[in-house]
Amino acid sequence: MSNENKQRSSFSGKLGFVISAAASAVGLGNIWRFPYLTAKFGGGFFLLIYIIIACTFGFALLIAETGLGRKTKQSAINCYANLDKRFGFVGVITTIITIIIASYYCVIGGWVLKYLVLFITQNGGTALQESYFGNFISSNTEPMIYYLLFFALTVLVIIIGVEKGIENVSKIMMPILLFLIIGIAIYVLTLPGSIEGVKYYITPKASDVKPVTVLNAMTQVFYSLSLAMGIMITYGSYLKKDIDMEQSAIQIIIFDTVIAFLAGLVIIPAIFALGSTDELSAGPGLIFVVLPKVFMSLKAPVGMIVGSAFFILVLFAALTSSISLLEAVVSSIDDKFTKGNRNSAIVISVVICLILGTLSCVGYGALGDVTIIKMQFLDFFDYISNNVLMPIAALLTSVFVGYVLKPKAIIDEVKISSKFRLENLFVVIIKYVAPVMLIIILLTSLGIIK
Ligand code: TRP
Repeated sequence: MSNENKQRSSFSGKLGFVISAAASAVGLGNIWRFPYLTAKFGGGFFLLIYIIIACTFGFALLIAETGLGRKTKQSAINCYANLDKRFGFVGVITTIITIIIASYYCVIGGWVLKYLVLFITQNGGTALQESYFGNFISSNTEPMIYYLLFFALTVLVIIIGVEKGIENVSKIMMPILLFLIIGIAIYVLTLPGSIEGVKYYITPKASDVKPVTVLNAMTQVFYSLSLAMGIMITYGSYLKKDIDMEQSAIQIIIFDTVIAFLAGLVIIPAIFALGSTDELSAGPGLIFVVLPKVFMSLKAPVGMIVGSAFFILVLFAALTSSISLLEAVVSSIDDKFTKGNRNSAIVISVVICLILGTLSCVGYGALGDVTIIKMQFLDFFDYISNNVLMPIAALLTSVFVGYVLKPKAIIDEVKISSKFRLENLFVVIIKYVAPVMLIIILLTSLGIIK
């Protein structure tokens, strides 16, 4: 609506798009969420399923979303409504998902900031104390301060709108992050005992073949690639007509998957080398418990330097993602409610995220006794957005593209700029595989299938 008249900004070219999409994709999902899920769900089988789903579902949905965006030149909240009134609510669901994730994401960003400060101030060693992490997140003030700092940084960038600057920095930071993770992985692999961890990580075990493993692998693919949240629709809407969408999608998926794989290759073998395999089921605290031990096992100044460098890069990866999450919230609220009054949209978004984020933050401390379906707030928000709303949004998107709009609309959009080599794969997944799988996934996460 109002967007059609506005001058729509666009990416400078294919590299600009791939880098921006990758910067949004690579974040805490790769370094924090992927390793703890892989460890928890038994290693090899989870990894295998993750890779298969990323290359099939992930690919089809990424193409569908960028195609929808480029075709309509609208952000998610308007895109569906524009193409078909009946599907307008899908845009609303994706916006709700983004709001929930944006709020708790900043809490974890705060944890990263805390660990960065520990290493920079030469206090990395204190993180090795028994239950240090648990005590930290359940204390009342510190996590809140770090959360607010991280959130403030995110909001600051949104206000001054230095997205271009962020993109330029991403071009430097992303490759450094890659090399640093490779370096740390090589170090971990030289530690005695780590090979057992590698085996655990890459060998699928028949006993793990369960619907919940597939469910979590699938939602992790969506999370990691920022899918089913309308982000890629928005990015697609900035995409020029001459950019090869298929090749860009493949590059984004490869980059994102490689970073996640390497993060797992650092953390899981490290757990084995440190002889703490009961840590495997640690959940959200995993990287904060294991990584300080790895860094502190390096010689005195080296551990602090590598630890600081690592947490700076994770912080940066988290920031580029939290900025694009909050930006998506702001632009949807602006498109829908404040209609061009961006400052009001920012205020509304910040207030909503602040309320939900504060709940997630104090949910481990002051409100520790309050649980929703046996989960603390943060875990509940993560569950409801990723395991319930996201499969619903993805299901509706695939039904919409597969049967209402018809795959041809997206295929034609892709073909404006290049050949579509994986056209058949795309059609089969969007029309048949995705809807069936997503229904199974949904029933699994609602506990109807075990
Ligand atoms: N993909 C991001 C990560 O791996 C997290 C994320 C999920 C995200 N949805 C998003 C980031 C939307 C930006 C926009 O950490």
